[in-house]
Amino acid sequence: MPVTVVVGAQWGDEGKAKVIDLLAAEHTHVVRYQGGHNAGHTVVVGTERYALQLIPSGVLYPHIIPVIGNGVVVDLPTLFREIDTLESRNISCAKLKVSSQCHLIFPWHQTLDALYEAVRGDDRIGTTLKGIGPAYADKARRIGIRASEVLHPNTFAESVRAQAFAHNSEIIALGGDPLDVDDIVATFAVLGARLAPYVTDTVEMLHEALDRDDALLLEGAQATFLDLDHGTYPFVTSSNPTAGGACVGTGIGPRYLTRIVGITKAYSTRVGSGPFPTELTDELGDKLVEIGREFGTVTGRRRRCGWLDLVMLRKAVRINSLTELALTKLDVLDTFEEIKVCTDYTADGQPIYEVLPGWLTDISATTDVDALPAGAHALIELVEREVGIPVRIVGTGAERESYVTWQ
Ligand code: GDP
Ligand code: IMO
Ligand code: MG
Repeated sequence: MPVTVVVGAQWGDEGKAKVIDLLAAEHTHVVRYQGGHNAGHTVVVGTERYALQLIPSGVLYPHIIPVIGNGVVVDLPTLFREIDTLESRNISCAKLKVSSQCHLIFPWHQTLDALYEAVRGDDRIGTTLKGIGPAYADKARRIGIRASEVLHPNTFAESVRAQAFAHNSEIIALGGDPLDVDDIVATFAVLGARLAPYVTDTVEMLHEALDRDDALLLEGAQATFLDLDHGTYPFVTSSNPTAGGACVGTGIGPRYLTRIVGITKAYSTRVGSGPFPTELTDELGDKLVEIGREFGTVTGRRRRCGWLDLVMLRKAVRINSLTELALTKLDVLDTFEEIKVCTDYTADGQPIYEVLPGWLTDISATTDVDALPAGAHALIELVEREVGIPVRIVGTGAERESYVTWQ
């Protein structure tokens, strides 16, 4: 009953989707366990680029059963737009299952996300404005609407109406324009009916798969340092991307987890506000943005860039029980004369760097570990020595085939 978890070890956008696509070949199901359409997961296959938000990244393989686990918050317009786009590109979503326990996102969550950010002013989090925080807040307040409700259209419509009125009061109190309740009820009647056939008791389904010895891959969105508990609070997302969240967000207990893969770029990026000790605000940062194409898939925002931070990575190893690392986007460093890696902080929190010479070689066509330049090996060995777990996959380009692996 092998269960693999893929978790971001930094602040998101580490290249999780590409690694999931790679590992999907040896699994039967790919299960998203938290987050919502704040995620932007990119898989590049030849000239085709797939940017996924809610649908698990394994969907590109016909043998994979894609599952949206109970920990995810689901925005129905986005879900169906994604399904329609994928199907128009000949990727079938017919096998998709959505947990009956998922909470749904409604337009008031998005309106409130923007109003809460406005209230914070200069202290704003820089959210994706997708309504993620307000939807999880309603879940915690025990007033959320779950996917199972769409199976009962009359009571679903009543719930939507009641919630729309209740949230309109808050929107007005915060100075916003109230939403059109009848319009939302009518829209969600249609969306709910479309969702109904996908709604499943996924916990039961996944345990039946485990009993058959199927191999499950649990897909994290966001990352360790955006985790509501373990991240740089309050500059975090409102769910638990860390490996414990994979258990909660799927209903699979910890004893099943056999492989926990932490994904880290060979440098660091962050979108939105919050601390970033190794951030580069000079031309080296601009160079990382340019070569790494560091612009958000969801919001188009320029990602903040900096050097790899092994203090944080060590913490990610502990919090997630990582068994191995995938080091992505190593090719982005190909033209750097010098590569810095933070191995410790000073007493007042300034990064202390180890400086490695760059390899100044194009590694994008490398398919064999032994063919990586010595400088790249030195970086990989430094990471392994400092964090205490092996690097098993190295990303050498955006394309599906661009990686080297030790397995
Ligand atoms: P995710 O949110 O963790 O799945 O990552 P994103 O898809 O948001 O961002 C990662 C970006 O880097 C995407 O555009 C990928 O196509 C790209 N990418 C992934 N791995 C590599 C790699 O090894 N090298 C390069 N150059 N690009 C990569
Ligand atoms: P993937 O899965 C990077 C960031 C936002 C903001 C904070 C809170 O592609 O790695 P939210 O809308 O979640 O309330 O915003 O979290 N954020 C991400 N940053 N990658 C993501 O997802 C992110 N999802 C949310 O920028 O700082
Ligand atoms: Mg992303």
